[in-house]
Amino acid sequence: MSAILVLAAAATSLFSSVYGAPQPPTTKQALQCVIGSFTGVVTLPGVVVTIEKVVSVPERGSYRETGNLGFPQTIDLLPALCAVTVRVTNTSDVPSKPQSSYRFGIFLPTEARYNSRMLTVGSASCESDGINWPNMGEGPHYGFATISTDNGHNSNGSDLSWATPARLYDWGYRALHGSVVVSKLLIEHYYAKPIARSYYSGCSTGGRQGLREIQYDASAFDGALIGAPAWDTVHLMPWISRIAVNQLNGTATTNGKLTPTQMSILAAEVLSQCDRQDGQTDNIISQPGQCNFNISTIVCSNPSTCLTPAQAQTAMGIWADYTVQNRLISNGFDLSSEDQWSVYFGDDTTLTGFDFDYERYFMYNRTSYTWRDYSDPVTVPDSERINPGQATANKFDISAYRTRGQNKKSGKILMYHGLADGLISPRSSLLYYNSTMAAMGTTLGDMRSWFRFFEVPGMQHCQFSNRYNAPWDFAGAGQASALRLLPTLGVGLPAVGDGWSVPGHLNDSNYDALAALVQWVENDKPVDKVIATAFNSDFSVYRTRPICPYPQRATYVSGDINSASSWRCA
Ligand SMILES: *[C@@H]1O[C@H](CO)[C@@H](O)[C@H](O)[C@H]1NC(C)=O
Ligand SMILES: *[C@@H]1O[C@H](CO)[C@@H](O)[C@H](O)[C@H]1NC(C)=O
Ligand SMILES: *[C@@H]1O[C@H](CO)[C@@H](O)[C@H](O)[C@H]1NC(C)=O
Ligand SMILES: *[C@@H]1O[C@H](CO)[C@@H](O)[C@H](O)[C@H]1NC(C)=O
Ligand SMILES: *[C@@H]1O[C@H](CO)[C@@H](O)[C@H](O)[C@H]1NC(C)=O
Ligand SMILES: *[C@@H]1O[C@H](CO)[C@@H](O)[C@H](O)[C@H]1NC(C)=O
Ligand SMILES: *[C@@H]1O[C@H](CO)[C@@H](O)[C@H](O)[C@H]1NC(C)=O
Repeated sequence: MSAILVLAAAATSLFSSVYGAPQPPTTKQALQCVIGSFTGVVTLPGVVVTIEKVVSVPERGSYRETGNLGFPQTIDLLPALCAVTVRVTNTSDVPSKPQSSYRFGIFLPTEARYNSRMLTVGSASCESDGINWPNMGEGPHYGFATISTDNGHNSNGSDLSWATPARLYDWGYRALHGSVVVSKLLIEHYYAKPIARSYYSGCSTGGRQGLREIQYDASAFDGALIGAPAWDTVHLMPWISRIAVNQLNGTATTNGKLTPTQMSILAAEVLSQCDRQDGQTDNIISQPGQCNFNISTIVCSNPSTCLTPAQAQTAMGIWADYTVQNRLISNGFDLSSEDQWSVYFGDDTTLTGFDFDYERYFMYNRTSYTWRDYSDPVTVPDSERINPGQATANKFDISAYRTRGQNKKSGKILMYHGLADGLISPRSSLLYYNSTMAAMGTTLGDMRSWFRFFEVPGMQHCQFSNRYNAPWDFAGAGQASALRLLPTLGVGLPAVGDGWSVPGHLNDSNYDALAALVQWVENDKPVDKVIATAFNSDFSVYRTRPICPYPQRATYVSGDINSASSWRCA
């Protein structure tokens, strides 16, 4: 750590000696990377902006924030940039809501690299939080001035005990919104010119944040890349609790609790039955919704090699939609998600901890809350009524975003979801898409002109594909930094390019979904497909395949099944 700081300090003085004394802003030149370039810039009623830290990072340098619990990693191989950390307090909501206080970071590429665009990146979950420097590391490689917020708290693991009413609102929507507003002013001041376009990229909680901000302030972004959004917080969280209750209620033999080993056994059986049902035996379940799966084939009485009838019931409950009094509450997971079930339902610690911390800290603020207190007809309506932090992104009519400004080219959404996701159901993204279409009273053809949804067969939550090794890398939100931070694989990356974007395809709109979104927003080139990539363990390309805008899907034509050129969207 100290080595990084020393390096950064050396870079600051190098920068100063090259550019000489501080200069006033001109129409051309960016300011120096020093605190003075950012102080006193923002004057908004009730808003206090404090510049905490400004660090100049050299070309191929790294950055790490000491004390960041959610994102403690060192981000390496950055292009030369200025890293700024800002704290904002906002009393404008008082007295109706408690005072807002949050931090955010900005990576400002050098003037020569700056592409005159801003990129906001989301967070990763509602538990581990802090400024998401790792995902921010992706943006400057494209030339984006890139920002992300800590959502008003700093936490790690599955800890939700940070919740206070103020922090919940900050996490729910205030921190992201305010960070975008303040960043725009700071970025324009720094480069002494207007920002040409504003983009968003986020997955999971990040996907929720992006949709929530689009619904709250149509002017925030021109285009948004939204992955596996956890948009339906008030329903998703009780549903996780419900599944956990099912596994805890009863005796060891009757409760149907699945072990991670059994989840693997199940995933293997699903693959063996469903793979061929989609027309191609390629180790990928491309249409989980169409698979006719017979769980009886692995039901028996020896739980070390198969599932008991009670465990089979648990599995069927996880695939099924969660309904209460005939009302759909939350979509179940798709077939092929089983490998990830262990994240929510893997062991007793998780089942009693995170699975109920939503009720414990976000809803009732009662640390003595246990799974025994859960009740469908009470917990679900309570969750809807309390709507912690107003985080749920369910204002489906986003006409204002669609038609924002005079320029009808703006206001695009590219949403995607892995069909093997075991943390957020891909069907919930389709529900979001359907609900938007219904709320705006429009047709699928019209939706496709500004909002497209891509299903990614075999991809897990936001990235990776585990046993399927399905093509999953298309520069989705956080994918490049996930690859870089992977302890076993990340070390091989410099050999195949810096590993930002899809290795070898930075800013290539055929392979890079963020670049494709930019082309759609700015050049009216709709995203008809994106080529996704899967790797061998040495990072050579194993296979490529297009992902397609709903309701299309990749259809094999002829040739090498592992090559994207053998497929088309139909
Ligand atoms: C990426 O592409 C955009 C236009 O599509 C361009 O403005 C930008 O400079 C490119 N960035 C890099 C690093 O090539
Ligand atoms: C969270 O951070 C605290 C303080 O640094 C540390 O003691 C704890 O082990 C961390 N927990 C997890 C789950 O990473
Ligand atoms: C829960 O109670 C504690 C202690 O009274 C309080 O500090 C905290 O703000 C409360 N949290 C919520 C979400 O209301
Ligand atoms: C401050 O709060 C007000 C009221 O919620 C909001 O409109 C404004 O955008 C906020 N500004 C910042 C910078 O957080
Ligand atoms: C499901 O599998 C069981 C056990 O192998 C078998 O007896 C049954 O006929 C199968 N059902 C269908 C509909 O194929
Ligand atoms: C546990 O099961 C019993 C018996 O079926 C039921 O009455 C009770 O409501 C269940 N508990 C929870 C928390 O769902
Ligand atoms: C979305 O709408 C399509 C077309 O009407 C329908 O087939 C599908 O079941 C819907 N999915 C969800 C999750 O609402």
